[in-house]
Amino acid sequence: MKAFIFDLDGVITDTAEYHYLAWKALGEDLGIPFDRAFNETLKGVSRTESLERILRLGGRENDFSAEEKELLAIKKNEHYVSFISKITDADILPGIEVFLKELKEAGYKIGMASASKNAQTVTSQLGLLEAFDHIVDAATVIHSKPHPEVFLKAAEALRVDPKECVGIEDAVAGITAIHEAGMFAVGIGDPNVLTEADIVFENTARLTLEKLLVRI
Ligand code: BG6
Ligand code: MG
Repeated sequence: MKAFIFDLDGVITDTAEYHYLAWKALGEDLGIPFDRAFNETLKGVSRTESLERILRLGGRENDFSAEEKELLAIKKNEHYVSFISKITDADILPGIEVFLKELKEAGYKIGMASASKNAQTVTSQLGLLEAFDHIVDAATVIHSKPHPEVFLKAAEALRVDPKECVGIEDAVAGITAIHEAGMFAVGIGDPNVLTEADIVFENTARLTLEKLLVRI
């Protein structure tokens, strides 16, 4: 293995929770309440596709014009941006800084593959822009996870063969994207949800290079 490519939301910081709260607020405004189990199907998925999934859940996918959907997506993002405006380096998930340092010292390349248009802002607020050799975010990809494009672009930018990359994800769609890219998939979260991952750590505090190297 030569490179590690990280998802951002839910892996580096707990913004997955803020995406959930922002979508939940919009869903309630629209009379479409949903639970955490449904939210698992939104994780890793683009803003527009997430909105479509929520509207479909409520049987309301044909109730809005393209312009109205655009306004709904903007409203969700306004909720989300107000949550992330307060993020600092204290919001980096446990163990991540140590793990990034371990990887750098061991000579691995480090990339990010995020489906979020807010990825640069969040990473900057965490003070982690320098920790990544390359960041690919939603602004530069056409296809949303589970499509592998975002991971393949990150590998290409790092000049590493996808087969020599490890992808790290908290979302089911993200694990699929990593595998479709031909990479080794590390899941962060519930092993009963991330059933397709090659290895699962229940949280980032448990993630160490030593534990990974025996499995890769
Ligand atoms: C992903 C999140 O990283 O980014 C999704 O897991 C989110 O929940 C997606 O919908 C898009 O984010 P944004 O910031 O562009 O709305
Ligand atoms: Mg994620």
